[in-house]
Amino acid sequence: MSYQNEEIKQAAEALLQRYAKLENKADILRQPELKALYERIRTLPPEQRGTFGKEVNELRQELQAKVDADSQQVEALPPIDVTAPMDVNSALPELLSSENGSRHPLMVERDYILDIFYRMGFVASESREIDDDYHMFSSLNFPEDHPARDDYDTFMTEQTNKDGKRFIAPAHTSTMQNRVLKKYKANLEKGEPIAVVVPDRVFRNEDVDARHEHTFYQLEGVYVARGVHAGMLIATLQDFLQEYYGKQLEVKTQPFYFPFTEPSFEFALSCPFCEKKGCHICSQTGWIELLGCGMIHPNVLKEAGIDPEVYTGFAWGCGIDRLVMMKYGIEDVRHFQSAKLDFLRQFP
Ligand code: DAH
Repeated sequence: MSYQNEEIKQAAEALLQRYAKLENKADILRQPELKALYERIRTLPPEQRGTFGKEVNELRQELQAKVDADSQQVEALPPIDVTAPMDVNSALPELLSSENGSRHPLMVERDYILDIFYRMGFVASESREIDDDYHMFSSLNFPEDHPARDDYDTFMTEQTNKDGKRFIAPAHTSTMQNRVLKKYKANLEKGEPIAVVVPDRVFRNEDVDARHEHTFYQLEGVYVARGVHAGMLIATLQDFLQEYYGKQLEVKTQPFYFPFTEPSFEFALSCPFCEKKGCHICSQTGWIELLGCGMIHPNVLKEAGIDPEVYTGFAWGCGIDRLVMMKYGIEDVRHFQSAKLDFLRQFP
């Protein structure tokens, strides 16, 4: 493949040369050159990002295709029935080689989603698996003892911190808002926006069924600059969803309540499967209510040391599992954590 951009061309040459020497071929996708190209996207003027981002994706696809082609040459191992009862006195079964594995579909989709946001000028940040009351609630303008805290069926530890508060397994990725606002606040002084997405795992004490899991993934988005308004929020989400589903979509909002946004919206998209005619995915309504979003509450900005008189911003939180389920017509969210090979192997 020949690349137009000189920087990408050079990185491609270096990576292809190194590829031959790598013992684990999949490591080629984790090389610093590739990461640097993705990071470079957000430093470019907006009009150059699209072309540059497209070429970087092509390079990644070229490398991925090489890895896939090589891995198919690995000698096929005899299948093992992992569901068969095991006789402890017999010889242990040979374990599957790691080369026979594949990435989990949620991780593949997460990376694809991030690529879209990188091309839109966002950076990504990781969440954490144990957090505290301040980040889960107080920094997000939930008053102490407010009933809205009960909407989030949070898991808490028995152990407490020095203020006597329990630790919390984050029930939403919004726990990262205060941290990313503080971390990237210096951008604003340089005239640049804060544009961050946080894709990570969240936990809720839910009754598990086909639509509810106790552990799932969310994608949080935070954007702050001067003069940001709700139209930008809607356009950003619409652009993302159209890119993700590869088609034109209609979107609509209706009022909602979250303590950390004002105004708050519930955001719906026209069903990508039936073009609003009504089908089982959209429960015959033609619309899918997808996520919560809104304009960041002034108190949340203030808490992070940002002046809400000068800067405004929007935020959203979206279930990644839900996006992926709709994309592939997966009918039961429990498949993702099931470790069932017959499910996972449909996503090579
Ligand atoms: N954290 C919310 C939830 O999990 C979703 C959400 C709503 C996130 C509005 C946001 C937002 O950032 O602005 O239910």
